[in-house]
Amino acid sequence: MAAEVNSFKGPVGNQPRVDQYHNFLKNYADDSTLTAEQKSAKLYDGWTTYEEDLVKASYNGASLSAMILSKLCPDKTISVLDCGAGSGLVGEQLVAQGFTNLIGNDISQKLLDIAQKKNIYKKLVCCDAGNVVQLPFEQNEFDAIVCVGCVSPTGIRPKAFVDWARVVKPGGVFLFLGRHRYWKKDPKNEWPELGFLEEFNTVVRDLQNSKKVQMIFKRILPDYLEKTEGVAFAFRVL
Ligand SMILES: C[S@@+](CC[C@H](N)C(=O)[O-])C[C@H]1O[C@@H](n2cnc3c(N)ncnc32)[C@H](O)[C@@H]1O
Repeated sequence: MAAEVNSFKGPVGNQPRVDQYHNFLKNYADDSTLTAEQKSAKLYDGWTTYEEDLVKASYNGASLSAMILSKLCPDKTISVLDCGAGSGLVGEQLVAQGFTNLIGNDISQKLLDIAQKKNIYKKLVCCDAGNVVQLPFEQNEFDAIVCVGCVSPTGIRPKAFVDWARVVKPGGVFLFLGRHRYWKKDPKNEWPELGFLEEFNTVVRDLQNSKKVQMIFKRILPDYLEKTEGVAFAFRVL
């Protein structure tokens, strides 16, 4: 499997590109020669057609997240961390909703270079947000975190929420969106061995039991990506 991963040169043929990258990630899951973070950086640094592919895949996650955050946070001057900002698709939608104080982070410097050119973020930081004990941000630095398309079995893992609760002020929120299928306990679960759902349930239960966060809502989004369902979770930091 590792050889297949290392020889990957990008999408080919007629198969939708998002699917091809998805399959690429599936192969990555079996490659123990790289850490999960190295795999993500390698994948996204090499995905030079990311934005055009996402448009072709009818990606609505960015606009949906900005609309939801706008309803949750009427004050548009609040500081927002776009966690896993990538090329800045979410940032653009946040600006369209009136948000003015954006910071972004991502593991892919190549995607952050694209985001930088949009001149919408006050600061962009290239760092791992997936398996870190601590993000390179201060306690209570943000009023909100928005994270779209990143919380997944192979991307930013649920244990990251523990530090989100540190960098978001009490009273602030974190909102994340992803493909609904990752949260479904069914035989089609592609990465059961990675224990994503179990980790999610444990982290959320512990954070809620210790009164660090409270769930505001879980909402199904019918048309998230490639006409398939997404899910949005919003939490209040206590
Ligand atoms: C599907 S893209 C979504 C990007 C952006 N939020 C959007 O909606 O277009 C997933 C993003 O997560 C980032 N990512 C994956 N694993 C990460 C990690 N461990 N730490 C930080 N960013 C990560 C990738 O580099 C990529 O930019």
